[in-house]
Amino acid sequence: MKLFGVFFLFSLVGLFSVQSKDEDGEYKKIEMPLTSLDDVRLSLGGEKLNHTIEKVDPLKAKYGLELIRSGQLKRKLLKSKIISPYFVCTDCHNLGREFENANDQDPASRLAYAQKNNLAFLPASTFWGIYNRTSFYNDDYIKKYGDIITKAKKSLPESIQVCAKYCAAGRTLKDWEVEAIMHYFKATELSIMDVNLTNNQIKNARLVNQLDAEEKAKLLIELEKSYVQGYSAHFDEAMPREKRKYGEGGNAETGKFIYNNACLSCHKDGRVTFLKLDSDKLSAQMFVNHMEGYSDKSAYQIIRYGTYTMAGRNQYMPRYTKDKMNDVQINDLMAYIRQLAEK
Ligand code: HEC
Ligand code: HEC
Repeated sequence: MKLFGVFFLFSLVGLFSVQSKDEDGEYKKIEMPLTSLDDVRLSLGGEKLNHTIEKVDPLKAKYGLELIRSGQLKRKLLKSKIISPYFVCTDCHNLGREFENANDQDPASRLAYAQKNNLAFLPASTFWGIYNRTSFYNDDYIKKYGDIITKAKKSLPESIQVCAKYCAAGRTLKDWEVEAIMHYFKATELSIMDVNLTNNQIKNARLVNQLDAEEKAKLLIELEKSYVQGYSAHFDEAMPREKRKYGEGGNAETGKFIYNNACLSCHKDGRVTFLKLDSDKLSAQMFVNHMEGYSDKSAYQIIRYGTYTMAGRNQYMPRYTKDKMNDVQINDLMAYIRQLAEK
């Protein structure tokens, strides 16, 4: 029972298993709760999140996930209109972890992690750990959306609304829909085991009540540095022609992954766009024919600007900020595209 005493101070989310000996001397698995990073943060004197949810409602969280994945609920008693005829949230956002370290947001590490785990390499930030963030649509998104995101920058529920209506080119959500998505986010919040802490820091996080004020303050700072509280987002111009290497020295193998897991994740079946791309010579030649220019068919241009919605045409391509795809990665992509075009 002693072990459980260590945990009773915290409110708990998630489960993990440890081995324990039963009466027969055999090992069997018991489930033990994990510690919510946010609860530890609060017990160390951290500031309360604007969007705090005290306790997950698992049913709401389930509805939230369904809205995120399929854009609507189709139950007898709980029906909703499709959020967007063009996109679902997961066209642009992954749901899972995207970095080995929760405090990393370098596009090179993001790509390495995606390759290791065969993840889509998408233009928007993952929903993993989003409950623990304090700012949204950071840096240059104000240039694209202006006043629309003023409120959203500090509010997770507002960000959900902005994205449903503007990023996903859809509609304003009902209150219960936002709440359901918020409960999904809460259900997938970070635990202290998700971030890189030393054994000593973990021990202290579990024994918060035994720390003095100074130790608490120190641990709070370390804890808040151990994950991303707001993802950077810097727009870039299309690379000027004289700087482009058109794939020279690039890694075509990596480029192939980017083409498949970034571009084709939207362009393969033509579901979200009229432009159907494939791993064939024809698609590749289109890019090669336009690579020197600044048209929307030049990879250098389209990746950095995306396209905008227009009256009567709501599909658009979100740009990749420098923080989501770097210039080396674009060169790798070009290396692969040129190889494909010459086949
Ligand atoms: C067409 C692409 C696209 C779709 C579809 C989309 N989003 Fe987004 N979303 C973005 C982009 C781009 C951002 C900008 C910030 C970032 O995530 O990098 C963003 C940001 C957000 C943010 C703030 C994230 C942060 O950390 O800054 C939330 C919350 C969000 N979206 C929720 C949703 C929800 C919920 C849906 C589905 C109803 C959705 N999004 C659909 C592209 C999209
Ligand atoms: C989140 C989904 C998504 C991803 C990821 C994506 N695209 Fe797109 N792309 C679109 C949509 C939607 C359009 C159509 C815009 C329109 O209809 O005007 C588009 C349009 C384009 C166009 C045509 C522009 C024009 O007007 O002729 C090109 C070229 C293109 N994308 C290339 C790429 C490349 C290269 C990648 C990978 C680096 C990529 N796309 C990744 C959604 C995406």
